[in-house]
Amino acid sequence: MNHLDWSSRPGRPLNGSVRIPGDKSVSHRALMFGAIAEGISPIRGFLEGEDTRATAAALAQLGVVIEAPSAGERVVHGVGLHGLRGSDQPLDCGNAGTGMRLLAGLLAGQAFDSTLVGDASLSKRPMRRVTDPLAQMGARIDTEQGLPPLRIHGGQPLHGIRYELPVASAQVKSALLLAGLYAQGETEIIEPHPTRDYTERMLAAFGWPISFTPGHARLGGGHALRATAVDVPADFSSAAFFLVAASIVPGSDLRLPAVGLNPRRTGLLQALRLMGADITVEHPRESGGEPVGDLRVRHAPLHGIELPEALVPDMIDEFPALFIAAAVAKGRTVIRGAAELRVKESDRLAAMATGLRALGVTIGETPDGASIEGGTIGGGTVQSLTDHRIAMSFAVAGLVAAAPVRIVDCRHVATSFPGFLELANGCGFDLQRVD
Ligand code: S3P
Repeated sequence: MNHLDWSSRPGRPLNGSVRIPGDKSVSHRALMFGAIAEGISPIRGFLEGEDTRATAAALAQLGVVIEAPSAGERVVHGVGLHGLRGSDQPLDCGNAGTGMRLLAGLLAGQAFDSTLVGDASLSKRPMRRVTDPLAQMGARIDTEQGLPPLRIHGGQPLHGIRYELPVASAQVKSALLLAGLYAQGETEIIEPHPTRDYTERMLAAFGWPISFTPGHARLGGGHALRATAVDVPADFSSAAFFLVAASIVPGSDLRLPAVGLNPRRTGLLQALRLMGADITVEHPRESGGEPVGDLRVRHAPLHGIELPEALVPDMIDEFPALFIAAAVAKGRTVIRGAAELRVKESDRLAAMATGLRALGVTIGETPDGASIEGGTIGGGTVQSLTDHRIAMSFAVAGLVAAAPVRIVDCRHVATSFPGFLELANGCGFDLQRVD
């Protein structure tokens, strides 16, 4: 018996209010900074996903006590900058690129050796983008020809570098800043395009002197992190599926409260609005130093667009959802400058093109994008390729498909969005587990 596949078909108009789980990026970072801070850091709104739990388990293996008083809460007992203890067992990052790359930065400057491993998908993802600049800082990390596992040699003195990132990547930036905490001198990062700045904001909140502006960050080594409380906003990337779903199902009117609206994350909001979507931000406010708001999304007829390339880094995780909006929109949508999608949890350009074709959509794939002819979506079977966001995107496609959409192997949805199926069905989806 196999309950890993899902079948999605038209439900009713989406309405009510959906509480989206906590932000994955913020949850990973809150654990790591709390772990090496002095004192106790309570985290509220923590994402109970497999990715973030893997990071918590890795830190526990390194000697950090992390309590879980209730779901969505963690209390991290910081051990201070030099208080981690080595583990003779590999640290398993599961499916999480963020976990592995940030931990590589954190562990590069420790006195002990560490090994980072991951699942089949993570084991195929490029790691030289972090190990090369970390080596420039003095780290010694062995890879399997650029792929995990990462064998990190301890006891290497690190020094700060000035590094211009070849690709916009918050994970690489964050790994280098984490290593920079342990380095002598200054670490300076210049990005080709600004990326999410949670690491910079959180380091400042934990009391580490850092200067940062969009696209640039600089810090010196040798200070201390002071424990602090972290309020994790709802994850915009998880909200994205509901933004697209309510936009394409006639009669929908859906609310998503307290979603994180960091401008480096909300490119999809702009893209959908360019396509004609009706999404408003109600009660914009600050929570835990982050912009947050309640999103209200109502059905609206969408039309195809040439996606402005400048939006790509600000919606890097939202392309699978955008592909579904584009497949339903009137006219053609053209995406360029998104080659990074090929090295996510799956090759997302290929995964979406293959899946949409199986549902009868006309779509052309280019090395760095796609051209999608909008219209109608048919039924059929698609592969998730064990990628959580591919699975959830095709669940959204089923809402407007002419016949049921079967999505093969949806296990990995729990990496970022535990409870997606129940939440989706609660607001109007018709999504079933099938054998
Ligand atoms: C993340 C950065 C992005 C994003 C990932 C989370 C982070 O990856 O795709 O889901 O938390 O820093 P890249 O830095 O590889 O673009």
